Amino acid sequence: MNKRFYVTTPIYYVNDIPHIGHAYTTIAADVLARYHRLLGQDVFFLTGTDEHGQKVEKAALGKGRSPKEHADLLVENFKAIWKRLDISNDAFIRTTDPNHIKTVQGLLQMLWDRGEIEKRSYAGWYCTPDERFWTEKDLVNGNCPDCGRPVEQIREENYFFLMSKYQDRLIAYIEQHPAYILPETRKNEVLGFLRINVLGDLCISRPKQRLAWGIPLPFDDAFVTYVWFDALVNYFSATRYLAPGAELAGEGNFWWPAQHHLVGKDILTTHAVYWSTMLMALNMPLPENIFAHGWWTIEGQKMSKSVGNVVDPHAMADRYGADAFRYFLLREVPFGLDGDYSEQALVNRINTDLANDLGNLLSRFMTMAEKYFAGSIEKPAPYGRADNTFGRQCVNAFASAHHKDLWSRLQFNIILDHIWEMVRAANNHIAQTEPWKLARSEPDRLRDVMFDLWNTLRLTALSLYPFVPGTAEKIWKQLGLRSLTEETAESIKGAEDFPQGVFDIEWLPGYAIKTWKSEQLFPRIEKEKKMTGEIKSEASVQGERKEDTNLIAIQDFAKAELRIGKVVSAERVKKSDKLLCLQVDTGGMRQIVAGIGRTYAPEDLIGRKIVVVTNLQPAKLMGVESQGMLLAATGADGVPVILIPEKDVTEGSKIK
Ligand code: MSP
Repeated sequence: MNKRFYVTTPIYYVNDIPHIGHAYTTIAADVLARYHRLLGQDVFFLTGTDEHGQKVEKAALGKGRSPKEHADLLVENFKAIWKRLDISNDAFIRTTDPNHIKTVQGLLQMLWDRGEIEKRSYAGWYCTPDERFWTEKDLVNGNCPDCGRPVEQIREENYFFLMSKYQDRLIAYIEQHPAYILPETRKNEVLGFLRINVLGDLCISRPKQRLAWGIPLPFDDAFVTYVWFDALVNYFSATRYLAPGAELAGEGNFWWPAQHHLVGKDILTTHAVYWSTMLMALNMPLPENIFAHGWWTIEGQKMSKSVGNVVDPHAMADRYGADAFRYFLLREVPFGLDGDYSEQALVNRINTDLANDLGNLLSRFMTMAEKYFAGSIEKPAPYGRADNTFGRQCVNAFASAHHKDLWSRLQFNIILDHIWEMVRAANNHIAQTEPWKLARSEPDRLRDVMFDLWNTLRLTALSLYPFVPGTAEKIWKQLGLRSLTEETAESIKGAEDFPQGVFDIEWLPGYAIKTWKSEQLFPRIEKEKKMTGEIKSEASVQGERKEDTNLIAIQDFAKAELRIGKVVSAERVKKSDKLLCLQVDTGGMRQIVAGIGRTYAPEDLIGRKIVVVTNLQPAKLMGVESQGMLLAATGADGVPVILIPEKDVTEGSKIK
């Protein structure tokens, strides 16, 4: 086994508000880091923030701060959410760290000295918000193919990394290393792209007069480094100053290359093509694997600020617990595929898998242990597992859950499935052996059954630890064991044949372990407690939590045009139980789509006077255009409550 394990997440744009997408990658990386620590490896788990570029510069300017001051404030949002979600990153890199800047400049100088970078005059279509050049043929209806916004023609001198040279080498590398890009479908996409297209050179500079907030090129300080060049280098630069023992590493680098770079599918090209060729040009080893996961839609829709359906991980953790959220994200959808998020699906998982299967198993075991043996568990002697079907099922499920191929291919949902085979087998074992009857007739057999259940719960907790660390510790403690990490690291390190070896726990003859106080793991979520997904307001509040500028000027408020509207007709939007499509008279007819369908029937709304924002840009919800927004408060349990005028007011009246 490789002694060290290095895993990374993307570094997130510092001025984004942390959302489910950020949480997803970081939780997955955390699971890997925790697992490999359990295996006794030296682990370096890196996350961080991407802080240079136009967006940060602009946002900072707008707030009257320097870009660095702005980044210093916002980075706390990420640090806070990782703490809330129990993320065990070993380091947090910021691209404004002086050591990172030094490394980027060092690598640029090296490439320049080797003739891998060239200065050229360049004309192209530039998307300012995305900070990206496009060729004529990339454009879609004359607009940016990524974001759809208009592009402008720009001619300027710039520096280019001669990426095109590496096209054939990259194709060969990917072909020869089948696990380099995963999942396989993504690898095939990258290969298909590389085989069909001619790879261009990569513009890696921006003139300082256009963008000042970046790392100056060491050989020409009229230019700063293109954000992606700066950002990708973080994976390497962290190994030079943030990784354990980095300062002792000298010329050799203990931590490079990484075992896994986890990224979302949208940023696979920058990693698989830009980063790989940069490393080739630098004569540095490539990472072992780049894994591109899929995207979450939210109740069937793309997640976006304008729709207001951005899922705030803080709110989810506060409402359901960090472990339930972590479990759901990795259990619900195979890592690598797209998935759909809904709070209903999360609640279902909590109620069935966590509260019912796992929670009940533990509480039944604890009650029986207390009732029949005053909490004292003994290993039966002689103890033979060979003829014990239940024991065999557990060993097999446990071994499957720890199969190294599943872990190296990040098949978290299958791993969890195997863990649940143990949980289900244990529940069946209770049903079949009926310990309450054994208590009367066969006390020795009861002792065997209870020991097997105890051992299975122990292995379940151990296997679950990377996914739901808090819950695993709770189970472990109730079973009468000390800290899970200490204890298992010990036992696994000693077990040559992990995972098989850990089933047969060392036990001195006559030794009894005392179970601890029973504590419920996951309360069932009752229907009426479930929230409806009105987390839009909380998400924006959280974004501002670390900002001190929550106040707006009266002129800003006056920009919103609010009017009284009368609902003339209403119907449900097809395939949505949440959205209603209303025709509203606000002094002229307009169509409004509102997410109130779970609490209001269309027919109840006809003739009602409501409050409408009438100067919003139109947006499409489930393909239906909405020309404004009605106002609703978030009532008890998150249920939307429509605002209505206290006395009758003519439709179209302005609200001031
Ligand atoms: N700064 C770059 C990464 C540089 S890495 C050297 C960046 N930052 S980001 O803040 O935009 O990161 C977004 C990450 O969140 C990406 O991995 C992206 O795939 C992920 N997600 C954004 N929305 C998502 C979903 N709706 N679902 C899942 N993940 C999504 O890109």
